[in-house]
Amino acid sequence: EVHQREYLSNGEMKQWDGPVSEVYSPVCIPTSEGLKRKLIGTYPICTEKEAMESLDAALAAYDNGRGEWPTMSVDNRIKSLEKFVYKMSEQRSLIVKLIMWEIGKSYADSAKEFDRTIEYINATIDGLKDIDRQSSRFEMAEGIVAQVRRSPLGVVLCMGPFNYPLNETFTTLIPALIMGNTILFKPPKHGTLLHYPLLKAFQESFPKGVVNTIYGRGSDVTPGLMQTGNINVLAFIGSSKVANGLKKSHPKVNRLRAVLSLDAKNAAIITKHADLKLAVSECILGALSFNGQRCTAIKIIFVHKEVADEFLGLLSQAVENLKIGLPWEKDVKITPLPEPHKPDYLKECIDDAKANGASVINENGGVTSESFVFPAVVYPVNEKMKLYREEQFGPIIPVIPFESIEEPIAYQIDSPHGMQVSIFSNDAKEISSLIDPFVNLVSRVNINAQCQRGPDVFPFTGRKDSAEGTLSVHDALRSFSIRSLVATKLNETNKQ
Ligand code: G3H
Repeated sequence: EVHQREYLSNGEMKQWDGPVSEVYSPVCIPTSEGLKRKLIGTYPICTEKEAMESLDAALAAYDNGRGEWPTMSVDNRIKSLEKFVYKMSEQRSLIVKLIMWEIGKSYADSAKEFDRTIEYINATIDGLKDIDRQSSRFEMAEGIVAQVRRSPLGVVLCMGPFNYPLNETFTTLIPALIMGNTILFKPPKHGTLLHYPLLKAFQESFPKGVVNTIYGRGSDVTPGLMQTGNINVLAFIGSSKVANGLKKSHPKVNRLRAVLSLDAKNAAIITKHADLKLAVSECILGALSFNGQRCTAIKIIFVHKEVADEFLGLLSQAVENLKIGLPWEKDVKITPLPEPHKPDYLKECIDDAKANGASVINENGGVTSESFVFPAVVYPVNEKMKLYREEQFGPIIPVIPFESIEEPIAYQIDSPHGMQVSIFSNDAKEISSLIDPFVNLVSRVNINAQCQRGPDVFPFTGRKDSAEGTLSVHDALRSFSIRSLVATKLNETNKQ
């Protein structure tokens, strides 16, 4: 068990004597009242007062762009980050273990999340070196030389999601930090403890007040921070509803930059010319990796009527073969869900689909057992059902038969989301005819492949309500900075 009684603010590990939140693992253990989620630790439930103190510390460290960190040379900022990476790497086994226990992610995926984050930080360091190299002086107009700088924006509030509590928190925090901003960072509710081992590493690697933590209930502490008008960038990965609420709390929304990755309902389209075996294996990865709890997950499948039976047969077979178990079991694919309300919500979705004429076509699909939900293929889904538009964020695969390709195109046009799509076809002509309509509706079209964010160095964003700003390496470094120009008119003394 990890009992956290400290938080990082203004360069100090502050002791917290107030109330704490208990953290229960999705992994259940036998108790006298039957199987129950296991208590694995506690963390501080700080109040708005501590959040405001952290904000003051971040503002003081930024000091209107004149602080030690925003004015530090790129080389020295990189050295600080390299020190942090070294210290973070020393905590690998503990953090991987905490990812497994806190959010129920398999060992393989938890280790991947950690390693991918280290790779991402190193790629960001290289990206910053590239940007720095490009900032040489150039002749802007006759007699004027200029130098472009990338300058920080101020105080960045970073909030990551529970499904990638480490990796996605860092895909905003790290580029924001390295560009010279100062940081307020609130770990996700599920996935808080795993950040605890990193607080000391932050403290020892960066000047005081550059990285500060926010603990406590989001609804208690974050609106007040936004209302001060002193948050310059909101970096949020999670639900559109929460992001909109936070943006609205800011008194000068036109002065707030938002870097957001939000809701998505990514479709896979299986045409009658698809390689069905390939489509099934990619759809399984796309729809059920980490139990479908990914913004990039395939959350609805359109299959051409002529191949629907064969596709569904292969899909349900593949689903039934997936190993269900605890995060540390070998080859496990389906693991317990961290959000306590999720099994009931998914059951509601399935019941609603059944009431509107669909069935679960694989054995045990949708059966719940404590925090487990057995993956379910639901067919045929129609527009009356929750599963048609709602982002289920769980192990349910809704499937819709179609006759004309105009049907999935119309679905995407009407969708409030626009993150990704996967198109499965072995007909080159058909593929090229489908790229154009979709590439103008979503931000990534995957051909004969699942939807996914990686590799992390590529731009990651979405259209409509799915995102604002772009993550990755170079794009993220730009998202957390602004171009400033130093233009010098040449005269006799500065000609050289
Ligand atoms: O949950 C959203 C993540 O950005 C998904 O990332 O596609 O690498 O699993 P991923």
